[in-house]
Amino acid sequence: MNYTEGMLREGSLKGKNILITGGGTGLGRAMGEYFLVLGANLVITSRKLDVLEETAKEMMTKFGGKVIPVVCDVREIDQVEAMWGQCIAEFGQIHGVLNNAAGNFISPTERLSANAFNTVLDIVLKGTSQVTLTAGKHWIAAKQPGVFLNIVTTYAWTGSGYVVPSAAAKAGVLALTRSLAVEWAKYGIRSNAIAPGPFPTEGAWSRLLPGDLVKKFDPAKKVPVGRVGVHQELANLAAYLISDFSAYVNGDVITIDGGEWLKGAGEFNNLEMIPQEMWDMMEASRGKKP
Ligand code: HXC
Ligand code: NAP
Repeated sequence: MNYTEGMLREGSLKGKNILITGGGTGLGRAMGEYFLVLGANLVITSRKLDVLEETAKEMMTKFGGKVIPVVCDVREIDQVEAMWGQCIAEFGQIHGVLNNAAGNFISPTERLSANAFNTVLDIVLKGTSQVTLTAGKHWIAAKQPGVFLNIVTTYAWTGSGYVVPSAAAKAGVLALTRSLAVEWAKYGIRSNAIAPGPFPTEGAWSRLLPGDLVKKFDPAKKVPVGRVGVHQELANLAAYLISDFSAYVNGDVITIDGGEWLKGAGEFNNLEMIPQEMWDMMEASRGKKP
């Protein structure tokens, strides 16, 4: 058994209907596939119907279950409410929402137009809050429990240059997660977040490591465990947090980054660059034999 394998027992999500924003590609798709393996049905949404339809078809062929593709730009409240209506019409009840849709790119902040900044804020923060509000209001009115799982990243709390709109928006999503975990717990609604480190996807790599950057910056080098993430290990964590096994986990953000952000934070962590011979010399100069 290892991290490339599914972790939860068969049927762990049986009877659960789960909405995944941005579910047609990348990590949203990977998490959705594992939810299907565990017995869930899905609604996957994004702006591109052709991508969603193709993904839904492939997912059902490979993993079984029901996958409904619905076009929805999370920035548009009318589209969000219509999409939620379709979820309820199709399944009667949605048990969990995975807020995964995002937009991002690298740029010096002073080069960004107002529209560029707002585009990322709107997809990530406004989009997540609109989906959350729509689902939450429905669950409360229908007296149904529910669970939110929001995908942020570690710079939600450290901040990061060159992705400033994304950092500001993800920080907002984290605040939303923690706030509603308390406010809506009385309705049986839990809210948690996952903060992934680098997990290669076409969407993220093409925008964060465009052109030659991918050759110059190997993200694995920044990670203490020496590698990037594997989609299945993120899917394992997501499945646990969206399932009833995590019933007592509420308002938390779980980091899955191989220790990456802490490596950047610890004052002396860069001393790993010192070779063993130099440590030997330093010991010798203190009078200790190597
Ligand atoms: C500067 C840019 C830009 C760039 C777009 N803009 N790309 N500015 N650098 N690379 C500007 C445009 O010029 C425009 O401003 C404004 O942003 C809106 O651009 P559009 O192309 O019209 O927007 P839209 O079609 O809505 O596309 C949104 C997008 C795009 C965010 C720009 O990249 C997208 O669709 N992304 C979705 C998927 C995605 O980003 N996945 C990666 C998530 S990875 P003007 O002023 O010219 O009108 C992630 C990882 C985090 O979040 C952590 C990693 C460890
Ligand atoms: P991705 O494949 O580009 O996923 C982003 C998804 O969001 C796409 O399916 C995209 O579909 C959808 N989307 C974008 N704008 C939208 C909008 N306005 N309305 C609805 N859907 C929209 O990239 P990914 O790497 O899998 O990222 C998934 C999540 O993980 C994001 O929240 C990201 O911030 C987070 N994350 C990723 C990493 C990583 O290393 N990959 C690390 C930390 C966090 P359309 O273009 O069809 O709309």
